[in-house]
Amino acid sequence: MAILETDRLTKSFGALAAVSGVSLAIEAGTLHSIIGPNGAGKTTFFNLLTGALAPTSGTIALDGRDITGTPAHRVPHLGLARSFQRTNVFPAFSLFDNVWVAAFARAPSRKGIAWRSADRYPEARERALAALADVGLAGKADRPVREISHGEQRQLELAIALAASPRVLLLDEPAAGLAPEETKKLVALMRGLKGRYTIVLIEHKMDIIMSVSDRVSVMHFGSLIAEGTPAEIQKNAEVRRAYLGGVAA
Ligand SMILES: Nc1ncnc2c1ncn2[C@@H]1O[C@H](COP(=O)(O)OP(=O)(O)O)[C@@H](O)[C@H]1O
Ligand SMILES: [Mg+2]
Repeated sequence: MAILETDRLTKSFGALAAVSGVSLAIEAGTLHSIIGPNGAGKTTFFNLLTGALAPTSGTIALDGRDITGTPAHRVPHLGLARSFQRTNVFPAFSLFDNVWVAAFARAPSRKGIAWRSADRYPEARERALAALADVGLAGKADRPVREISHGEQRQLELAIALAASPRVLLLDEPAAGLAPEETKKLVALMRGLKGRYTIVLIEHKMDIIMSVSDRVSVMHFGSLIAEGTPAEIQKNAEVRRAYLGGVAA
């Protein structure tokens, strides 16, 4: 069954339909990639899923429940997490503290909050440590964020998203700006998360797409033009014309 499903989702900016009638079903436990040229509407699609933007028309369902119009601050509580950019990281704080805040924020009940030490919330602490371990940063939990590398910061962003125990994880070009070695590490990491999480991945680099995806959907001028396995997408003539042709090595 689809864990996340959109029905004719549309977002117009004036005359421009950035996302146009997108009906997409993400099966639970899969890594489903969305590819397409720059300006295809991929990030706007994520902005609709996370409530950052309200759709012009169409619906979004999570576990069969209509969540269209849920305000952005409520969406993470539904279990839809986006990997944030570095701006959401506090450089002077430890990796653990940064991840702990995310784990804590997702806690089911926050009745009776007081300014206590993190130890007083064992569940959040465990979740934070597990998330750091998941991304290979357990050994650096106590280091301040400003001391880790660019690639490790990206891993940390992933840990922050994982700490919220998301049902669906949305990743928008996680490898952007990473060196080849760091990219390799990130790909290995995504492979390790596969199956345990439902992941929707926006990515530009075709080698990454081909090596980690279960399903691939292709966007072009706001619309979905193809969906299939990585092998099917690679062979698809329309996709090659729209996209692969321009970047194929
Ligand atoms: N807030 C906005 N206002 C107006 N136009 C926007 C806005 N956000 C995105 N767009 C336009 O929508 C189109 C899709 O953009 P985007 O979703 O960022 O594409 P992608 O992520 O696939 O590169 C682009 O033409 C972009 O300029
Ligand atoms: Mg984008």
